[in-house]
Amino acid sequence: MNLDIDRRAFVASLGGAAVIKLMDHEGRADALEDYSIEKLDAAVAQAQGQQPAFPTVAELEAQIETRHSRRGVGSLFVGQGLGNENVKRLEALPEKPTLLDFFQKRFMPANHVLQSATRALKTGMSEEIILACLLHDVVQNLIKVDHGWWGAQLFEPYIPVKSTFAIRYHQTLRFYADQAAGYEYPDLYKRMFGVDYVPPKYIEATYKMVRKHKWYMEPRLVTVNDLYAFDPNAVVSIEPFIDIIGRHFKQPKEGLGYDNGPVAHMWRTIQFPDSPL
Ligand SMILES: [Fe+2]
Ligand SMILES: [Fe+2]
Repeated sequence: MNLDIDRRAFVASLGGAAVIKLMDHEGRADALEDYSIEKLDAAVAQAQGQQPAFPTVAELEAQIETRHSRRGVGSLFVGQGLGNENVKRLEALPEKPTLLDFFQKRFMPANHVLQSATRALKTGMSEEIILACLLHDVVQNLIKVDHGWWGAQLFEPYIPVKSTFAIRYHQTLRFYADQAAGYEYPDLYKRMFGVDYVPPKYIEATYKMVRKHKWYMEPRLVTVNDLYAFDPNAVVSIEPFIDIIGRHFKQPKEGLGYDNGPVAHMWRTIQFPDSPL
């Protein structure tokens, strides 16, 4: 079963039709993905008999100028739920945190990425693609704007180049159907954005480059799994991926955030989102 998106609730969550008119298409698409992930987490919590962490009418009344934060801010940094819920105290990470520590204490519930990686695993895709699926949206905990590029940057020093390529460009390929590869343009996008949807120039230019690239299928397969990764009844866990992470994720011995690498600060920001400076 796939997740139904209530169009009215979605439109309301963004601040109403008038606000949506002012957004560009890419912004609308990102908002939709973000909204779908939140709704999925809420639906899974409900299916498991818990109070939904993110009620389905999550941002129902929200309007840009009535919100305390912008839509593009990472989900770690704002209270989830009806829009005025307080943020929760976060569990401390160990001194030398690993990717698994971040998954368990910063990225959870992570239903969407776990579902998409599970599908990649079950359909026999390469380990680079499975890893890319597992990681493709987790940067949304840090920032949501242009999450393909941010996500690729966050992982680039630690994962295979093909996985980085897949994460960076899945954001672009969402808007371009490829029936031969099993990716249909989502009906939802047609309904939400209208049939006149034209991606912004930088996305079109990126698409042209990626379409001709020898690694085109890497991000393409991330989008294929993406379509099937909004199932509120799926039970998923990180366990099946521990070996793949072990084989392909170059865990720095100092811990993520402490290897003095180019993105160490990004990991520290995720570790300590409550730091004032
Ligand atoms: Fe994504
Ligand atoms: Fe996704």
